[in-house]
Amino acid sequence: MKISKIILRKQFDGFPKESDFELVEEDLGDDLEDDEFFFEALYISCDPYIRILAPSYKEGETVIPGYQLSRVTKSNNSKYPVGSILVTGAGWRTGGKSNGVGPEGVWYERNDLPKNVPQSAGVGIFAMTGLTACYGVEYVLKPKKGETLFVSASAGAVGNIAGQIGKILGCRVVGSCGSDEKIKYVKSIGFDDAFNYKTESVKEGLKRVAPEGVDLYFDNVGGDFASAVLKQMNRKGRIAVCGMLSSYNEKEPRAHVIQQTMFMKSLLMQGFNIFADIPPYNEEIYQKLKKWAEEGKLKQYESISEGFKNLPSTFIGMLCGKNLGKTIVKL
Ligand SMILES: NC(=O)c1ccc[n+]([C@@H]2O[C@H](COP(=O)([O-])OP(=O)(O)OC[C@H]3O[C@@H](n4cnc5c(N)ncnc54)[C@H](OP(=O)(O)O)[C@@H]3O)[C@@H](O)[C@H]2O)c1
Repeated sequence: MKISKIILRKQFDGFPKESDFELVEEDLGDDLEDDEFFFEALYISCDPYIRILAPSYKEGETVIPGYQLSRVTKSNNSKYPVGSILVTGAGWRTGGKSNGVGPEGVWYERNDLPKNVPQSAGVGIFAMTGLTACYGVEYVLKPKKGETLFVSASAGAVGNIAGQIGKILGCRVVGSCGSDEKIKYVKSIGFDDAFNYKTESVKEGLKRVAPEGVDLYFDNVGGDFASAVLKQMNRKGRIAVCGMLSSYNEKEPRAHVIQQTMFMKSLLMQGFNIFADIPPYNEEIYQKLKKWAEEGKLKQYESISEGFKNLPSTFIGMLCGKNLGKTIVKL
């Protein structure tokens, strides 16, 4: 089996550039050991964590990591027969050979995706993105009906799902995003209100969209932005630290002093990590997401580009904010 893969050609210096990536071919042969199977990629996910992990990549060697929806094409593994639909950690490869084990192996089996959502939801609401949003909102923030949930980067992959789940759980949901087009978009998918952080300050924006203050903050952005949000929170508010989009491309990380606000408002802040914290709940959360999707309450919103070679430009576009919903490349 011949595959293409995209490796790191040159270590990122600030924002990634297309010339930092290189497409190479690999011949995996045609033979399988016991328990091995060949698979082809159907959809590949573009995620900010690819940028976070970059310092550990080796130039000319590391295949860009990540997950994909894969279909088994030939199998010596009874658990994963031909035709199985899997989320694998194969990263930026058009296919591969695996025994299913390890970080590049099988993350989730997805043979039973609901019929009323596109198959690409296998890398969106039903993979890392959906699990993260659900865990952060329901298990970390523990919302009560009527509370105000604020989601930053609300038009993005995790953000839009966090907002949808907040609505399902009875919150008033408001968001922030980087363009007026995105504001319209998040309102069209159910957010009660949102502000454009590029044209309005966090203080002004939140006073307008959440005049009674923020009870719950799903933080995708971190940095000065998050520090400003904390000041608009109600006493005993809860914060789920999901990510730090404002700092992934900064050359020098900056420290932000938040302790005084945490202390004055008796806030509770908790970080969480899909790889470390969520696995015990994978199946429970998947069944929950599936039920909501089948009931039509949870939808897959996505920006899909076609063609394996377009992964670098699509990934860079996502970091620059070009996406609405989940960023995916279809093969
Ligand atoms: N905790 C976990 O286990 C876990 C798992 C998965 C993802 N995450 C985190 O979840 C967050 C969202 O990831 P995602 O996959 O859903 O990405 P995403 O939101 O779909 O895409 C990235 C978005 O970042 C926004 N952005 C870029 N630069 C920014 C800046 N300086 N300030 C504010 N926003 C900026 C852009 O939207 P705008 O146009 O609105 O700026 C862009 O659309 C990330 O922080 C990611 O690391 C965490």
